[in-house]
Amino acid sequence: MKQAGEKIVSLTAYDAGFARILDAAGVEIILIGDSLGMVLHGEEDTLQVSMDDMAYHTRLVSRAVERALIVSDMPYMSYPCAEVAALNARRLLDEGGADVVKLEGADAATLAIIRQLGEHGIAVCGHVGLQPQSVEKYGGYKVQGRDEAGAKRIFEEAQALEAAGAIMVVLECIPAGLADQISAAITIPTIGIGAGPGCDGQVLVLYDALGISSRIPKMAKDFLAEEKSVFAAVQHYVLAVKSGTFPAAEHSFT
Ligand code: KIV
Repeated sequence: MKQAGEKIVSLTAYDAGFARILDAAGVEIILIGDSLGMVLHGEEDTLQVSMDDMAYHTRLVSRAVERALIVSDMPYMSYPCAEVAALNARRLLDEGGADVVKLEGADAATLAIIRQLGEHGIAVCGHVGLQPQSVEKYGGYKVQGRDEAGAKRIFEEAQALEAAGAIMVVLECIPAGLADQISAAITIPTIGIGAGPGCDGQVLVLYDALGISSRIPKMAKDFLAEEKSVFAAVQHYVLAVKSGTFPAAEHSFT
């Protein structure tokens, strides 16, 4: 799809009911994000989410999905070394039914883990830019890569993830121009959230896309506001991403 210039559509889901709707409406990648800690559990951040939580919610989603690729988040502290990462990733695949696992970061240790997961035949999605599992380090949910050094680091991290064998990479909350440069420089798809329209695909937290989160972030849009059903709202999102009308400038950062 990247080579053909066709935008890739992704949303999060955490249960069978919503997953069935997303799958039927044409969402191509369903992410069981550790954002479930915030939108389902009401936590302030994603740091309390456990492997049990991820395996459980991944299983609920995979039961309902017939077409979409299923990506499941490795939660905070679930990949401290390659051995533990492999056991936990296997759990999301075997017990949960995921196709791909997602890890945040691209430091040397994380890249080595991604390489080793690949050697075990486990497909990995990377995640750079704003990494919610490192929110304490940033002092809040802030746009990353606005300064030259930060932009260079994120650019190099995306390249390093491709070299380590990641099959795609989420770019979260970075300037649209930086996301454009990364998307042009690597051959694996970039999936943006708050990273502008130039990414190869887009992802949103489902609750933000339906306007049912406690606070809708700038990078999201309430697609249910103009529609009469969740199915119609998700179809609207799919068409907006495919046609390039979402995200617009108002959902992006400079
Ligand atoms: O946990 C999540 O929902 C995510 C998306 C924000 C990409 O990682």
